[in-house]
Amino acid sequence: MGLGLLTLPAVLLLLCGRRTECTAGFIKSPLSEVRLTGEAVEIHCEVIGRPIPEIQWWFEADYSNNESFSQLWDGAREERVQINATYIFHATSTLCVTSLTPEDSGTYECRASNDPDRNHLTKIPRMKWIRSQANVMVIDHPDITTNAVYMSEKTVILSCNLSVNSLIVSGHRWLKGSKVLHEDKDTSNVMTYNVTGLPGDGSGQYTCEFLTTPDVRMVVNVSVSPQVLHLKASEHGNEGDTGVLTCQSNSFPPVTDWAWYIVSPNAVEVIGNGSSDRYVIKSTGNQTVLRISNVDIEKDQNEYTCNATNELGTGGDVIHFKVRSRLAALWPFLGIVGEVVVLVTIIFIYEKRRKPDEVCEDEDSATGALKSNSGANNDNLRQRNSN
Ligand SMILES: *[C@@H]1O[C@H](CO)[C@@H](O)[C@H](O)[C@H]1NC(C)=O
Ligand SMILES: *[C@@H]1O[C@H](CO)[C@@H](O)[C@H](O)[C@H]1NC(C)=O
Ligand SMILES: *[C@@H]1O[C@H](CO)[C@@H](O)[C@H](O)[C@H]1NC(C)=O
Ligand SMILES: *[C@@H]1O[C@H](CO)[C@@H](O)[C@H](O)[C@H]1NC(C)=O
Ligand SMILES: *[C@@H]1O[C@H](CO)[C@@H](O)[C@H](O)[C@H]1NC(C)=O
Ligand SMILES: *[C@@H]1O[C@H](CO)[C@@H](O)[C@H](O)[C@H]1NC(C)=O
Ligand SMILES: *[C@@H]1O[C@H](CO)[C@@H](O)[C@H](O)[C@H]1NC(C)=O
Ligand SMILES: *[C@@H]1O[C@H](CO)[C@@H](O)[C@H](O)[C@H]1NC(C)=O
Repeated sequence: MGLGLLTLPAVLLLLCGRRTECTAGFIKSPLSEVRLTGEAVEIHCEVIGRPIPEIQWWFEADYSNNESFSQLWDGAREERVQINATYIFHATSTLCVTSLTPEDSGTYECRASNDPDRNHLTKIPRMKWIRSQANVMVIDHPDITTNAVYMSEKTVILSCNLSVNSLIVSGHRWLKGSKVLHEDKDTSNVMTYNVTGLPGDGSGQYTCEFLTTPDVRMVVNVSVSPQVLHLKASEHGNEGDTGVLTCQSNSFPPVTDWAWYIVSPNAVEVIGNGSSDRYVIKSTGNQTVLRISNVDIEKDQNEYTCNATNELGTGGDVIHFKVRSRLAALWPFLGIVGEVVVLVTIIFIYEKRRKPDEVCEDEDSATGALKSNSGANNDNLRQRNSN
């Protein structure tokens, strides 16, 4: 709208000039909407004029056959109607209807007037109320039938079938959680998606969305038993420290129960918060942490199993927990210190031994070379002389 680019005082000046009074005029009219049962609709209206006009909302139901509008107010229809209006420079009003039902379908009319006698019961106003209408259509969410066909243990084909043909499909969208996986402009009433990477990464809640007016969607669950993995960092602990063993599951549906066990050839011991005061277990949804305080090299070097359970079954992982002795932790350090000591000693001894000899040897060899050189020259001379 061209007027949208102008500032409000400019619009007022344009339409009303410098007059002190000026009839009401729409600068934003309500727009028609289609909504699903249970959703909310917001319609908006803006009016200018001097003095600032009053805005009212009126409604006529689609099913009414006597052409009569009734006024809407803030809090009508058991608080489902909310009207927010501002009267600064000009008038704006937003009508919001929540928890829509098909009975809310109808004509919504924005009426405005700034005639001083506009609400007088007997006087006929000099200027009529101006009106602008929008249609709101509330439809029930159409049925979408879903299907999941397992092609293998790793692949499942999801499909959604929109049952009604009255909605015009302009495309499809697949989501996992809130992440868009695929979007197309196909107009068919059936949409499919190949889920791969099962069971771990593939599981989750997928949504098929038909791009219609309004969009309609359905959630398809791809459920698996818990897929549990432990953190690599869980595998080692130092004697006397606290050992931290962590297992995670990122599959769907979420884990409802976690359990820890020590598995030995002869027995399975259940570990709980209470089974020893050295164990503390904290489980939060997709993760469980077992803390073993004051780790003992004899008692705690075991195979630990973490088992997760959800409505589809149980899954687990095994951690081979290795405890390093205090000394073992020191070995690398001691090794380095030892190496340094040995090196320093060797260098020291070598330097001390080498220094006095070296000087003599150098002098010897240098003079020796000179001597032999001069000897060779003499020989040459002698040979030449003899020739
Ligand atoms: C028009 O119909 C509505 C219900 O549809 C009723 O409440 C209202 O009284 C009727 N008005 C007249 C003038 O008949
Ligand atoms: C109306 O105003 C209230 C409070 O300022 C706000 O919480 C609500 O969202 C507004 N409603 C609409 C439809 O703008
Ligand atoms: C979709 O559902 C309709 C009935 O609602 C059925 O006739 C049609 O065969 C289904 N299409 C597919 C691909 O399943
Ligand atoms: C999905 O799998 C079916 C059957 O294996 C195959 O025909 C189809 O081409 C696959 N679709 C995509 C997009 O990979
Ligand atoms: C999908 O999973 C959610 C969460 O576990 C659950 O509330 C919903 O009922 C499931 N939907 C179907 C169709 O099973
Ligand atoms: C174990 O105890 C700790 C604190 O004492 C608590 O935070 C945790 O939730 C308990 N875990 C279980 C599985 O009861
Ligand atoms: C566990 O779940 C929460 C919420 O569902 C998520 O934010 C977090 O990233 C998950 N943890 C891991 C390790 O994936
Ligand atoms: C842990 O779960 C697995 C199934 O994944 C089951 O075979 C095993 O017996 C369970 N361990 C214990 C100690 O219950």
